[in-house]
Amino acid sequence: MNVLTPPATDRNELLAWYAENRRRSAEIFGLVDPEAYFERPIPLRHPFAFYEGHLPAFSFLVLCERGLGEPALDAALERLFERGIDPGSAEEARRQSRADWPRAQTLRTFARACDERVEAAIAGARLDDPGVPRLARAQALYTVLEHEPMHHETLLYIVHQLEYSRKAFVAQQHADWAPPGNPLVPVDAGDATLGADPDGVPFGWDNEFMPVRLGVAAFRMQRYPVTNADWMAFVASGGPVPPFWKRRDDGWYLRAAFEELPLPQSWPVYVTHRQAAAYARWRGLRLPTEAEFHRAAFGAPDGSERPFPWGDALPEPRHGNVDFQRYDPDPVDAHPAGASAWGIQDLIGNGWEWTSTPFAPFPGFEPMASYPEYSADFFDGRHFVLKGASPVTSRRLIRRSLRNWFYDDYPYMYATFRCVSPSR
Ligand code: AVJ
Ligand code: FE
Repeated sequence: MNVLTPPATDRNELLAWYAENRRRSAEIFGLVDPEAYFERPIPLRHPFAFYEGHLPAFSFLVLCERGLGEPALDAALERLFERGIDPGSAEEARRQSRADWPRAQTLRTFARACDERVEAAIAGARLDDPGVPRLARAQALYTVLEHEPMHHETLLYIVHQLEYSRKAFVAQQHADWAPPGNPLVPVDAGDATLGADPDGVPFGWDNEFMPVRLGVAAFRMQRYPVTNADWMAFVASGGPVPPFWKRRDDGWYLRAAFEELPLPQSWPVYVTHRQAAAYARWRGLRLPTEAEFHRAAFGAPDGSERPFPWGDALPEPRHGNVDFQRYDPDPVDAHPAGASAWGIQDLIGNGWEWTSTPFAPFPGFEPMASYPEYSADFFDGRHFVLKGASPVTSRRLIRRSLRNWFYDDYPYMYATFRCVSPSR
């Protein structure tokens, strides 16, 4: 039974997606020592306890209460858990902090009640109603289904900052080898389409609309992201130490998600936007604009634009390090199957990539009905657009128009970069 147009999507598939989201959330919360539950390993983010309430509360509020007009469940808890994004300063974070988060039992009872109502809605409500802005094209439903995986990623950033003794150990195999050379690959002048046409995608967040076609001059872009080995040369000449690196007597280590590793030479370096820009300057290069990233990732010499760097196929493990295959990076040259038409690799997965483009709306932007603050609060010139994906970005979020954004000095995210130069 198809309930959505477009795309034809079955209620059972939607319920399975919601269940997959909830299962992964439980798995992530399960990594955390209960003693750490009320702590904030990232000072600018709420404690874990907040997120356990935020996810189901947001789903219930957006779909059932505001979308479908159902009565509230618990107005006080809904308000408490409605919103939790990065405050802009430690001062603001202190104002938002509180000592009396509801205890685990209250939280879980509330979460279960939200889940039941959301599941009942997915199973039986009119999810796609062109006459109601929040329900047109099933916007509220997709807002809920894509919101939770975004938090899986940002939750894992917080888990990453917890001491190893305060979280479960997840055993992983790590590959590392001599990093490849990183030549500048020519990309021809041409057009890049940023954003999406609402008729062309099942769902997009408000900042993905409307589509805009930009002319891009010829340039050259590094075939791979900048590696830890590359960055070491910068440190040797006085450059900053990346946030996940740790110096010990016998050398450099990486604070990986669940263990410290001798610094993997062939992994992409994770750095802030400011650090990335400083490296590019040091090399006599610069960061790509959002349009240049699009041209390099999705453009082709014949003038066409592809849904993914490798073509039309939906992302699979061979295309890149995404979708929780692992928690840590892979060598930058581990996914040749993901190469773009220009032979540029590792564009989707293994770390978001910083662009030099401040996060701003495309022409025709309108705040989305189901979550009007989603993007609009961040068009402040202090956030920069990131493209691509990290190892813990859900495959469900991978589409050409998706844009991520963070502060230019945010040191917690899985963000790498590559440099560009003008074409000779
Ligand atoms: C799109 C990842 C920047 O976590 O701040 C989740 C996503 N917004 N709940 C964030 C988000 C509201 C957002 N990012
Ligand atoms: Fe949220």
